[in-house]
Amino acid sequence: MALSLLCPLLVTTLLFMQTLADNSCTDCFVQSRAAYYPNSEVNGTDVGACGFGSFGATVNGGDVSAASDLYRNGVGCGACYQVRCTNNSLCSGKGVTVVITDQGSGHNTDFILSKRAFGGMAQTPDKAASLLALGVVDIEYRRVSCSYPNKNITVKIDESSSNPHFLAFVIWFQQGKRDITAVQLCETQNFVCKLLDRSHGAVWTTTSPPSGPLSLRMLFSAEEGEETWVVPVNNISEDWKGGETYDSGVQVDD
Ligand SMILES: *[C@@H]1O[C@H](CO)[C@@H](O)[C@H](O)[C@H]1NC(C)=O
Ligand SMILES: *[C@@H]1O[C@H](CO)[C@@H](O)[C@H](O)[C@H]1NC(C)=O
Ligand SMILES: *[C@@H]1O[C@H](CO)[C@@H](O)[C@H](O)[C@H]1NC(C)=O
Ligand SMILES: *[C@@H]1O[C@H](CO)[C@@H](O)[C@H](O)[C@H]1NC(C)=O
Repeated sequence: MALSLLCPLLVTTLLFMQTLADNSCTDCFVQSRAAYYPNSEVNGTDVGACGFGSFGATVNGGDVSAASDLYRNGVGCGACYQVRCTNNSLCSGKGVTVVITDQGSGHNTDFILSKRAFGGMAQTPDKAASLLALGVVDIEYRRVSCSYPNKNITVKIDESSSNPHFLAFVIWFQQGKRDITAVQLCETQNFVCKLLDRSHGAVWTTTSPPSGPLSLRMLFSAEEGEETWVVPVNNISEDWKGGETYDSGVQVDD
């Protein structure tokens, strides 16, 4: 009697847990297609829509990509994806990990990979040539953590900046798999803060930056909706100039 009551309960519980697991499938692969940049460059492009400059072409060893829907109006810039093609005779099970540095679409693709990344999905260099010859291939992808060993989050002041009237910058080397969804600049003395605008891609701008040394605050948002402000150890010096980079002194892992 006790057993017959217990068993249906156990089965129901197991079924319920199974349903939960299916619904929270954030690490599962999604089916799609990928192409590669049609020009002869092995790496990505240094004029990518994210505004990363040369970083956007060569970061992650040149394993970079343009995204279509995953670009998410620039929020997707800097996100990392594991992308693997599905042709068993050519493709490795591991595929490549790419960083989004540009926007682009065509032939129903979610990714336009650098040539290096596209070939990198193959089992061998010989098979990479056969894969490249196909041009557009079926793939599956999932978001993964970015990893930049021995790098702190770094602020690159854009060349278009002009102290003290206009400040534009991008954020390099953000590890993990969260999005930066807001950025503030604060005066280090009287703590007046200003929320910046995402002008395009990964570029944050303000026409009247606070004065003196600047303390940066970045809002990190996880897929599950959890938000955390990250405050760098180092401040941006008050004589900031276009083209310069500032090591924030912090890094994140998740
Ligand atoms: C591509 O990127 C790699 C790694 O960052 C770099 O060493 C190489 O010089 C780049 N190649 C070109 C053609 O820019
Ligand atoms: C898979 O690769 C083989 C070998 O290059 C090729 O003949 C075949 O057409 C490819 N299949 C698809 C679906 O692209
Ligand atoms: C940066 O500014 C903050 C105030 O916002 C201050 O507490 C901190 O000591 C400064 N960091 C450095 C390295 O000067
Ligand atoms: C990262 O920042 C820390 C200070 O917070 C510093 O000690 C370290 O040298 C920095 N790492 C690199 C690679 O610049």
